[in-house]
Amino acid sequence: MSNLNAELIEKIKKLKEEKDAVILAHYYVDDDVQAIADYVGDSFYLAKVATGIDKKVILFCGVMFMGESAKILNPNKTVLLPDATADCPMAHMAQVEKIKALRAQYEDLAVVCYVNSTAELKMHSDICVTSSNALNIVKSLPNKNIFFIPDQNLGSYIKDKLPEKNIILNDGYCHVHKELSVESVMNAKKNHENALFLVHPECRKEIVELADYVGSTAGIIDFATKSEAQEFIIGTELGVMYELKKKNPNKKFYAADETQVCPNMKKITLEKVASSLENMEYEVKLSQEVIDKANAPLKRMLEY
Ligand code: 13P
Ligand code: SF4
Repeated sequence: MSNLNAELIEKIKKLKEEKDAVILAHYYVDDDVQAIADYVGDSFYLAKVATGIDKKVILFCGVMFMGESAKILNPNKTVLLPDATADCPMAHMAQVEKIKALRAQYEDLAVVCYVNSTAELKMHSDICVTSSNALNIVKSLPNKNIFFIPDQNLGSYIKDKLPEKNIILNDGYCHVHKELSVESVMNAKKNHENALFLVHPECRKEIVELADYVGSTAGIIDFATKSEAQEFIIGTELGVMYELKKKNPNKKFYAADETQVCPNMKKITLEKVASSLENMEYEVKLSQEVIDKANAPLKRMLEY
């Protein structure tokens, strides 16, 4: 560890005490940020953790929709993001007008909203899901007609598994997962013949069809940890490698493609974490109306 990092880690520890703060981090942020967090996990785990925090300040090392969800679930706490521009493009890829039009068309429509979405989209949804619970939640909804927003790839993965439902897809996508090509996967498979291929359902259908396991970031880590296999090709953002290697020092992990890097998650650095706590910025602010309306679908997910 460099002297600069050691100094920053000391500073962060002191500031955490001083400000009565807890640090939550997603598996996609840089290794050194994951290393200083109090809780590291997938989107579902972090949303769940956020409901039981007894500190005054939640510092969220992730992107804006994650900070917003933490604020919606904890309206009386201060929620900070180390970089206010760390935003997920997919979170904006659905339109309220389309939701309204489909509600008018289908009487029993359930709008199912992937948590990777803005608070505004959540306000107009019936229930939230994450990649770890989407299939089970949609399956157990009484509604036949489902509008799944914003991710077309996670939506299409669920649609294939639940032919009894009429799942209407939206055209949003995660650019990091969408760009993974069949060619890269086939090359990785050729180079590592004994490796299992583990993918996130935000990848395109043709990629998911090549997988030995499909699941959330936590699902991928859990599968690799419990598996008898010794080698794995990873089809998701490469931040997961930190936890995969930490939990499985003797197993081998290969990137399906080295370009699977989320530029927004990577905006979170140790320097920004320290300065965020020091200056109490950037605070996630939402109106009471947004908090009240977006809380219902998030809570419904947590109750499921
Ligand atoms: P999960 O941790 O829920 O798998 O999230 C994937 C993701 O893209 C978060 O930005
Ligand atoms: Fe958004 Fe994809 Fe980055 Fe996750 S990995 S924050 S879905 S762009």
